[in-house]
Amino acid sequence: MQVKLLSGALGAEIRGVSLKDTSEKNFGVINNLLLEHKVIFFRNQNISPEEQLALAAHFGPIERHAYVKGLDQYPEIVRIIKKPNEKNQWGENWHSDVSYNLKPTKAVILKSIKIPPVGGDTMFANMELAWETIDEKIKDKIKDKKALHSSLGAEFFVDNYEGMEGNGNHEEYSNEHPIVRTHPDTGKKILFVNWTYTKNIVGMDKKESDEILNKIFKHQARLDLTCRFQWTENAVAIWDNRSVQHYAIADFFPGRGLGYERIMDRIAIQGDSPH
Ligand code: SIN
Repeated sequence: MQVKLLSGALGAEIRGVSLKDTSEKNFGVINNLLLEHKVIFFRNQNISPEEQLALAAHFGPIERHAYVKGLDQYPEIVRIIKKPNEKNQWGENWHSDVSYNLKPTKAVILKSIKIPPVGGDTMFANMELAWETIDEKIKDKIKDKKALHSSLGAEFFVDNYEGMEGNGNHEEYSNEHPIVRTHPDTGKKILFVNWTYTKNIVGMDKKESDEILNKIFKHQARLDLTCRFQWTENAVAIWDNRSVQHYAIADFFPGRGLGYERIMDRIAIQGDSPH
């Protein structure tokens, strides 16, 4: 097995591990790599939907997306489609998946099906390092506080994108979570707010809450906390959604990335209540 680190902050590309091997032993190796690097990448993994589902099942129960319709044959798989002439794509801002749920996603397994010749890389940021490196004055203000996270409704996930199909649900969801959560497996502290879904700090007036959250969001996006993955077809990313945020870069411009489809198959695993 070879492990190539993607940056000094997080992320590793793994060679010599087959994701077709769904044994407990292979899962143990993958899970240890995930806990260590927070997001791991595998290339040339021609796994079937059944194999992707079998790998996901090792992590825990599979989560259904609140707004997006899954594939007819595999309802747990959300196909993320950016049509050739769309500029925008799903996930194009910093976020951790479904942080507005009572139990936000534990991990995600994303497989590339079709990739443009250029554009559409995904970035990840290490929220354990974000907590360690944030200003002490901000730490003091937020360490025992909760924040409100809200979903942005079906429009945000479906209507804004030509290729995405809704499941008919239009409810909105909100939940409060500790701003600093503890990772259930590693015991590490994690800065758990994000630009996309976190709306305010509970019990703080709006002006101060906005000011602090804006400082946090800027800090979380510091480039030295990130890594960037350039996709090829049949690549797989697995990320620990409790300790990273991600950003699918929509850099599709005329004469370059625009004019090509980007298709990914996503499976999410249910998490627990942050504490
Ligand atoms: C997502 O935000 O889950 C999508 C990431 C990607 O398509 O790169």
